[in-house]
Amino acid sequence: MNEGRPLLEVRDLRAGFGANTVLHGLTYTVHEGEFASILGLNGAGKSVSLKVVGGVVPAWSGTITLDGADITSMGAEQRVQHGLAHVPQGRQVFPELTIEQNLRLGAYTLRRRERGLYDARLASVLERFPRLGERREQAAGTLSGGEQAMLAVGRALMSDPKLILVDEATAGLAPRVIEGLFEILRDVNRSGVTILMVEQNVTFALRISDQVHIMQRGQIVYDGEVEALDRDRVAALLGVGRLLGSHVEAAASARSAVGETPQRTKKAARRTTRKATPKKATPKKAAASKKTATSKKAATSKETGTPRKKAAAPKKKATPKKKAAPKKKAAPKVKAAPKKKAAPKKGAKTSRTSGGRAR
Ligand SMILES: Nc1ncnc2c1ncn2[C@@H]1O[C@H](COP(=O)(O)OP(=O)(O)O)[C@@H](O)[C@H]1O
Ligand SMILES: [Mg+2]
Repeated sequence: MNEGRPLLEVRDLRAGFGANTVLHGLTYTVHEGEFASILGLNGAGKSVSLKVVGGVVPAWSGTITLDGADITSMGAEQRVQHGLAHVPQGRQVFPELTIEQNLRLGAYTLRRRERGLYDARLASVLERFPRLGERREQAAGTLSGGEQAMLAVGRALMSDPKLILVDEATAGLAPRVIEGLFEILRDVNRSGVTILMVEQNVTFALRISDQVHIMQRGQIVYDGEVEALDRDRVAALLGVGRLLGSHVEAAASARSAVGETPQRTKKAARRTTRKATPKKATPKKAAASKKTATSKKAATSKETGTPRKKAAAPKKKATPKKKAAPKKKAAPKVKAAPKKKAAPKKGAKTSRTSGGRAR
């Protein structure tokens, strides 16, 4: 796998509904093999941004490039053929259909071409999710929330995607079920599928992600590697104050305590040229973080695939860990958010025009 290439490049994306602009020039990059998350307050435009990338809502302007191909004006189906899959908010399984029928829907582009491939893919998804295999003839509506989440991820995998967009996978799930989902998504990512996730559960996102993009009013206002984020800044941007600050710290500690997968370590190495870095990065810190990286590497070699244990978190303060970054920018990216518009009108008509953005 040619890891580290930009896989999804979103540039200056504008989109919205009628006179209501939701995305005000959204720009970010997701690299191959990465687990990236978009965080932000309710109404920031996170779901809309995934819908525009998935081809469900049209872009007014800007570009979306997937694996080198400009997909900006492609339909949703063509994007699936290019390697994109979408797990929408609310999971959206078809309750009346059986589990297998739901899975089959995820392969709608594939089945036309190759029945054999479909069978193989179904077998691999059912193997990955044995609980779905046991219930394959059962109506999806009878599944628990956690099982429906599995089904939604399984359905996305049926098209053998390069990139999966996951919108609020944890919503409404119990903590124990969220842990199971954590393992599933991490395994999917380890198997080589890049993931871009929108998440309200900040602790979950920080534990599992490599890269975080914080969105406010339709723009990315701050982003960077999870371990290099300024947690106070994250807490402030997400509007949850000191409580979240401690969550971020706990999440960062948990991450460093368990070490990383070999894939993650490789990713860490190639991310050394990434631009978003902590504001106060100093040569001293960079040196310190090298040390951390070494100890992580040691942990990595012992990686057994067991769930991460918070209990093993070191007591040390979760200073943002900086990897040596030759081309780093002096400060994390912080953009002025556009002025808040008047309350958006739900249900406004979708517009395909590139105008209509009166503010
Ligand atoms: N189908 C739609 N029609 C009109 N406005 C919409 C539609 N979907 C979302 N919006 C508006 O776009 C903004 C961003 O919504 P969304 O992306 O769902 O937010 P979130 O960041 O919580 O996922 C909100 O103001 C919402 O009201
Ligand atoms: Mg949403």
